Order: sequence, then C-alpha cells, then structure tokens
Amino acid sequence: MPVKKPTVIPAIRPATHKDATGMSAVLGPILSMLQSQRRSDPDHIIQHYIEHPDKILCCVAEGNNAEILGFQSLIIATDGNPYGVRTGWGIIGTYVNLNAGRRGIGSALFAATLQAARNGKITDIDATIGTENRLGLGYYAALGFETYRNLPNAICKCYKVGSSSPTPRPGS
Ligand SMILES: CC(C)(COP(=O)(O)OP(=O)(O)OC[C@H]1O[C@@H](n2cnc3c(N)ncnc32)[C@H](O)[C@@H]1OP(=O)(O)O)[C@@H](O)C(=O)NCCC(=O)NCCS
Repeated sequence: MPVKKPTVIPAIRPATHKDATGMSAVLGPILSMLQSQRRSDPDHIIQHYIEHPDKILCCVAEGNNAEILGFQSLIIATDGNPYGVRTGWGIIGTYVNLNAGRRGIGSALFAATLQAARNGKITDIDATIGTENRLGLGYYAALGFETYRNLPNAICKCYKVGSSSPTPRPGS
C-alpha cells in the first residue's frame, strides 16, 4: 500500500532579507527543472520578491529547523505591467522545495496570501503558468483558480477573491 507523506505544518510569515538565501535555494532547482533562464540569486530574490515595489505580501513557509520550505509572492498589477494583467488585479507566484511537494505547504501559503488580498481589497488574482507545468496547473486548479486566457506558452488562471475560504484540503 502506498504510504502518504506526512503533512507538514509550516510556520507562515512575511519574508525578510535574511530569507533570501533560503528562498534562492528553493527557486534555483525549480527554474532548472522548468529550463528557465530566470535569475534565482539572493540579490534578485530581494529585488523581485521581498522588496518588490508593488508587493502586497511575500511570505515564506518555514520548517521546524528554520529552513525555508517555500514562498509565495503577491503583487498588485500596475499600469503597463509586463504581464499584461489588468491594473488592480493581484499577481501570484508560488515556489515550494521540490522535495517537499504535496504536503500542504503551497496551500498554507495561499491561506496567508488570500487574507492579504482581502485586506488589500484585491478582487481577482492572476496566476500565469507554463502550459507544460503540470505541478503549477494542478496546484492552482485545486485552489479554485479558473482559466481566463491562453498565451502562446502559458495559461492564465484567475481566482475570484470572495469572502469564502479556499477549497479545503481533504482531512483538514
Ligand atoms: C505548484 C506548487 C507550488 C505546489 O505546492 P505544494 O506544496 O506541493 O502544494 P500542496 O501540497 O498544498 O497541494 C495542494 C493541491 O494542489 C494540487 N497539486 C499539487 N501538486 C500537484 C501535482 N504535482 N499534480 C497535480 N496536482 C497537484 C493537489 O490537488 C494538491 O492537493 P492534494 O495533495 O491533497 O491532492 C509546487 O509544486 C511548486 O513549487 N512547483 C514548482 C513551481 C511552480 O510550478 N509554481 C507555480 C507557477 S508560479
């Protein structure tokens, strides 16, 4: 019988500069897996996530030994944003250590992000996912994101920020 990996209950908190190295260690292998040329060094993590000028929340999931298990970024789309997302929408990005998947870390991050979106009066959140990225597509679909447009190499999904909670995980 297959053994279900134990669900991790990480501490979720806003990212600080001290987290940049741990976040970089999460992002690097993911970008390699996705064959992406995007940067993952700590300086870039600080500029692009922790101190992004349009940041609503950048939160990390921290394990029992203070290791960074994953992080999630929510920024607000401004006029002329490079993603072509409607001004005022949220834009989300999520990265969980590839060795810690399917343990609820991404879901725990989203609970914090959703609260921040509500606090910021964000009504819609965009997630743009590569068409070949089955992890990302499965994750955002499970959270309730729905496809609203297709780009040449990506699928854009939208989450409507209502007052209800995200789709609960079985057993939670
Ligand atoms: C996508 C990602 C953030 C998911 O994080 P996670 O911690 O594994 O997510 P959770 O454990 O909370 O999973 C929540 C649900 O998402 C869905 N899901 C997650 N990974 C999935 C996968 N590989 N295939 C299908 N569905 C998946 C499942 O329904 C899951 O619930 P379940 O395990 O009870 O079935 C993580 O795999 C990741 O960082 N991937 C690489 C980066 C990426 O693709 N980011 C998204 C685009 S920005």
